[in-house]
Amino acid sequence: MSFDHLMPAQDIVEKSGRVAVLMGGTSAEREVSLTSGRFVLEALIDAGVDAFKVDIQQNKLQQLIELKADRVFNILHGRGGEDGEIQAILEVLNIPYTGSGVKACAVTMDKLMTKRLLLGCGLSTPAFMEIKSKKDCEKVLNSMQLPLIIKPVNEGSSIGMTKVTRNEQLVPAYELASQYGTVMAEQWIVGKEFTVSWLDKTILPFCKIETPHDFYDYDAKYQASDTAYIFPCGLDEVQQEILRQLVLEIIDICDLRHWGRADFMMNSEGEFLVIDVNTIPGMTDHSLVPMAAKQAGLNFQQLVLKLLELTLEVETQHV
Ligand SMILES: Nc1ncnc2c1ncn2[C@@H]1O[C@H](COP(=O)(O)OP(=O)(O)O)[C@@H](O)[C@H]1O
Ligand SMILES: [Mg+2]
Repeated sequence: MSFDHLMPAQDIVEKSGRVAVLMGGTSAEREVSLTSGRFVLEALIDAGVDAFKVDIQQNKLQQLIELKADRVFNILHGRGGEDGEIQAILEVLNIPYTGSGVKACAVTMDKLMTKRLLLGCGLSTPAFMEIKSKKDCEKVLNSMQLPLIIKPVNEGSSIGMTKVTRNEQLVPAYELASQYGTVMAEQWIVGKEFTVSWLDKTILPFCKIETPHDFYDYDAKYQASDTAYIFPCGLDEVQQEILRQLVLEIIDICDLRHWGRADFMMNSEGEFLVIDVNTIPGMTDHSLVPMAAKQAGLNFQQLVLKLLELTLEVETQHV
């Protein structure tokens, strides 16, 4: 799974022109995005790219109209940046950008829609129910087995999520998640967690995640030093091939572009259940895509330059 098709860095720098690195934004993942953005910007500038920071605010349309950039490195996470909105503005302005397009971002930012789409295509995902009101909590308890995980449908970074093991925990969990919009209950899967990153046409080495926390929560993601990121992931050849094919199907079904990451739980039968598809994964020093890229022989700067290179391809395709 090594990575050998790279354009010389100097060529990328020369062809890229002025690069706006979009970060921050107004989603709950603002802080994570600012950290990702700082690392990306530093790597681009170190490589000699004429890159600059744009902290996206409420008036994003105006900001992008006035951008004066040849292309965009989009490292916004969450709503407003990873959900098709920014992508649509950039399409209209005809500015090439890193990552998936409008439709793929809009669908995958919505966990319910993603699950329904993937289920419709025959892929496995844990059982789930949308919770539209407090009253629905009763229905959930009548039709699903505990434990559950309660999730905001349109968030990332494990924000607003709770594991529910007792009936009385459900309403408070719903209330917490509902601060972020639509909510769903998902069957808690006891098993191993794997995450799979990809870059261009390459599926990067799989990572097994282990945490002493109940699950891979915000703290385990960005602060804790006791989260284990395990490469090689311990799956045998056959299992790896199954997971690889699954990820290729997800890329195809969701129409993903350039890069991304999908998260899976493996149940007691050894079946992989997809739980999350990300179009703009984290690029912090604790993040999974840079770790997986490193396993494939690509350092952080090469990863960032590869993403920039992919925006050059888009331009060529359009001509
Ligand atoms: N159905 C589930 N069963 C067990 N753990 C889960 C389940 N869904 C999510 N988790 C845990 O919660 C974490 C965050 O969930 P995920 O759906 O990936 O949302 P996010 O978009 O916040 O990353 C996962 O990495 C995993 O550790
Ligand atoms: Mg996730």
